[in-house]
Amino acid sequence: MSYQIAIDGPAGAGKSTIAKKLARKLNFIYVDTGAMYRAIALFLIRKGIHAADSSAVEAACQEVEVEISYRDGEQQVLLNKENVTGLIRTEEVGNMTSAVSVYPAVRRKLLDLQRALAAKADVIMDGRDIGTCVLPQADLKIYLTASVKARADRRYKELLEKGQKPVLAEIARDIEERDYRDMNREISPLKQAEDAVYLDSSDMGIEEVIEAILKIKADR
Ligand code: DC
Repeated sequence: MSYQIAIDGPAGAGKSTIAKKLARKLNFIYVDTGAMYRAIALFLIRKGIHAADSSAVEAACQEVEVEISYRDGEQQVLLNKENVTGLIRTEEVGNMTSAVSVYPAVRRKLLDLQRALAAKADVIMDGRDIGTCVLPQADLKIYLTASVKARADRRYKELLEKGQKPVLAEIARDIEERDYRDMNREISPLKQAEDAVYLDSSDMGIEEVIEAILKIKADR
């Protein structure tokens, strides 16, 4: 059996940075499930489908194929064979993703792929419902969170470094809205699994969080 580490938590808590580094240290594969949802959202944006149009979203799911591959150890997301890894990190795609990941057809589409990836190799998978739904038998579950202020500050700095002109209040509002949607949707909402370890990274650096998780793993 492969060893499975599930990391769930809200947007901006540092899940992907931490999971990626941990995977390298442990020689596990890293699966970023948010990227898969983002690929579907990109498809819907390109088609001009509105997030509220549930029947159009469901119909469009029939036309989407999402695949994952690895290049130099980095996850690549393929949307109908096109590598869209570099196109899915925008705020527009992020907001669309949160809005359409509420639909059962969208979630169904990705569940089997996520489970198949986890069955193949030792894995660190991050998302919103990994510990509660995708890998309920995971060996180690972490619920990684941080305050809205800490997450907004981090995102603000990231965007500044990219040469953009972010507005902190807008970022905080987007984060709150996304949290609300992710935590209150009917299917697979973001919540801490009963057997997950809660970690608040508001006042922790990346390396500190990694060390904390490695210690939890070693203590098992
Ligand atoms: O982790 P991320 O920011 O890339 O995720 C983008 C959106 O995708 C997030 O707001 C909710 C959705 N998502 C989900 O519903 N389930 C997952 N396992 C991962 C992401």
